[in-house]
Formats: sequence, structure tokens, C-alpha cells
Amino acid sequence: MAVPASSLRTALLVLLSLGLTLALGLLLPEALRLLFSLLGFPCDNASHAIVLVYFVFMLFVAMPSLPRGTVPTQGKVVLITGCDSGFGLALAKHLHNLGFTVFAGCLLKDKNGEGAQELQSLHCDRMKVLQLNVCSEEEVTQAVEFVTKNLEDPGKGLWGLVNNAGISTFGEVEFTSLDTYKEIAEVNLWGTIRVTKAFLPLVRQSKGRVVCMASMLGRMGCPSRSSYCVSKYGVEAFSDCLRQEMYKWRVKVITIEPGNFIAATGIFTKEGVEKRGQEMWEQTSETIRNDYGKVYFSHQVARMKAFVSSGVKNMSPVINVLADALTSKYPYTRYNPMDTYCWIKVQVMSHLPAAIADRIYI
Ligand SMILES: NC(=O)c1ccc[n+]([C@@H]2O[C@H](COP(=O)([O-])OP(=O)(O)OC[C@H]3O[C@@H](n4cnc5c(N)ncnc54)[C@H](OP(=O)(O)O)[C@@H]3O)[C@@H](O)[C@H]2O)c1
Repeated sequence: MAVPASSLRTALLVLLSLGLTLALGLLLPEALRLLFSLLGFPCDNASHAIVLVYFVFMLFVAMPSLPRGTVPTQGKVVLITGCDSGFGLALAKHLHNLGFTVFAGCLLKDKNGEGAQELQSLHCDRMKVLQLNVCSEEEVTQAVEFVTKNLEDPGKGLWGLVNNAGISTFGEVEFTSLDTYKEIAEVNLWGTIRVTKAFLPLVRQSKGRVVCMASMLGRMGCPSRSSYCVSKYGVEAFSDCLRQEMYKWRVKVITIEPGNFIAATGIFTKEGVEKRGQEMWEQTSETIRNDYGKVYFSHQVARMKAFVSSGVKNMSPVINVLADALTSKYPYTRYNPMDTYCWIKVQVMSHLPAAIADRIYI
């Protein structure tokens, strides 16, 4: 599938702004004329004001992103969670290539996981692999000790923390147990909060960056994905609050909201979906089973299995924005790496009245 076409986005935004201008065009001049006459200004200025507002808006929409400068990477230290596979593993290698010193937290380092082995095989002082289960208080504390002890320049602290570790599942609310909600939130949400709290003193020391991996499903609901959405909406809320608190420390908090990259990473597998489907059906109450029926349920599982091979197959849009968040002098608050279909869907779901948006997509 094609990767985001910024020109298409621009065209859509320009169309939207034109539509808004036409709609408002009938009322706005009258409202402004009234305001101007109340304020004692000549009414002629109202049409000039409209043209000026419109011109500034068009300029804002149509302008490509300005070069924002980059920070030097040499001597800068970044910790990434969830480096066993997917975005975490790719990011660890990419940041290492850019010159960062990388602490790569792996869930399976102690079990000789493939990702940990691959990173260790680089045999480089700037690539340090550590055991890190974000759900374990003990392992997080040990990780802070390990990073602190291994900082080349302890006075500089930690430039970047990337909360990437995450898991996902599927299942409609009535089929999803409370334990599943807790299991997903334990990694995605509480893991993010636990690790962030533990490493913030080191990040504050370097006036660095906290990067949180949310999702487009942290901005919009989706049938059969409530446990994941709940955890990612939580990540969004946590990042927004932290960002506001961190201004005074000159620490930047950045949220990444990828679209569908399922085919590119290991977050879902067909076998995993099949197994999870069986477990859900067995563990669900008889009432729910009878009400929904096996045919309906099997159809949902089959749809999810088909979904596993969907989405963008190339991780680079996500890796590039993660790198931008850590290297740009003026990083964005949010990045939305996704294909055009997902981008339009997020805009529709988050900006149109729910009754209309739901009719389009559900
Ligand atoms: N792929 C997408 O379409 C997509 C879209 C939006 C957001 N995201 C987010 O991107 C992040 C990375 O996911 P991914 O797609 O790259 O999937 P992935 O390939 O499964 O990577 C997630 C990594 O987190 C690790 N992990 C799981 N539980 C952990 C724990 N308790 N402590 C530490 N690490 C743990 C996994 O280890 P194991 O492999 O050993 O389980 C895995 O290496 C996640 O936060 C995900 O929600 C992904």
C-alpha cells in the first residue's frame, strides 16, 4: 500500500478549507461587520480581515514542513524498550547507525532471544543490550542502575527514552475478559508509566526527550480492539499531561501514532489470532456464545486473520519519525506515520460528528 502522500493531504486540507470558507462566507462577513461596528471600526475592514485570515490559513496548510535543524548525535544516549522485534529492533539499529549510544531493552535477552542476539552481534560499545521487562519493577530498577553505571558521561544523563514495548489482541467487549484488558494495559500503559517515571530524572538531567509509542487507535475507537484502544488512549493521556509538566524542565514529550503496520512487525500472527480465538470462545459464558453464535464468532476470527497481512509492509515511515523526534531541534508534538487510507479515517473519526463517522466506517 502507498505510503502517506503529503500532497494528497494538502489537497484534502485545501478542499476542506475552501468548503469551510464557502459555508462561512455567507455568515462571517455579517458577524464581523457587526463586531467591527460594535468596536467602532469602519465596517470596510471586515472583508480585509476575512481575506487575511484565509490567506494565513492557506499558507499554513500548503507550506511544506520547514527544515527544523538537527542536534548532534555523538555522545547522546537513548534507551528503547521492546527491542526484540519490530519497530524497537529496527529503531535500535537505525539510531546506532546515526551515531547514538543505544541501550536496547529486550524482553528475551536472558533467554537468548533473536533480537537481543542480533544487536549483541554488532559488538559495539555504542550498542548495549539489557534485559528489560517493562512489567517488572525489579527489572526496571536494575535497568536504571545499569544505564546509570554505563553512561560514558554521567553528567549528561539520558537524551532519549523511547517507550516502544507493546502487545495487542482482538475480541469484542463481550468476549474480552477483564484479565485481558489488564494484561494489555500492563505492558502498553503501566509499562510506559513505570519506565518513564524511573528514567525521568536522567532525562531531565539532559533536557532530553520522552517518546511514547501510541497508535492511531489511541485517537479513535475500533470494533474488536477495545483492550488495545483503552491502553493506547491511556498512553495519549499520559503523554499529554507529562508534556505539559515537562516544559519547565525543557524536556520534550512526543507521541507517535502509527497507522496500520501490522504486516511489517510481529505484533500479530495468524497462529496467534487462531489460538486467541479458540481461547476466547472456550472462556466465554454460554449466554454470550448463544447470543452471538459460532458462525458470527468464526467470521470475526477469519476477518482478524486476514487483517494480519494488511497495512504498510515497510517500517521506515515509523522509524524515520521516531528518529526525527530524537534528532530534530524542534520535534513535533505528534507524528502520524500512516498510509492515506488510515489518515483519512483518523481525520473522519476524530473530527466529524460520531453519528456520521460511525455510519461511514462501521
Ligand atoms: N505494528 C503496528 O501496526 C503498530 C501500529 C501502531 C502502534 N504500534 C505500537 O508499536 C510498538 C511496537 O510494536 P511492533 O508493531 O513493533 O510489534 P512487535 O514486533 O511485537 O514489537 C513489540 C516488542 O515489545 C516486546 N514486549 C512485549 N511485552 C514486553 C514487556 N513486558 N516488556 C518489554 N518488552 C515487551 C515484544 O517482545 P516479544 O517479541 O518477545 O513479545 C516485542 O519485541 C507497540 O507499542 C505497538 O503498540 C504498532
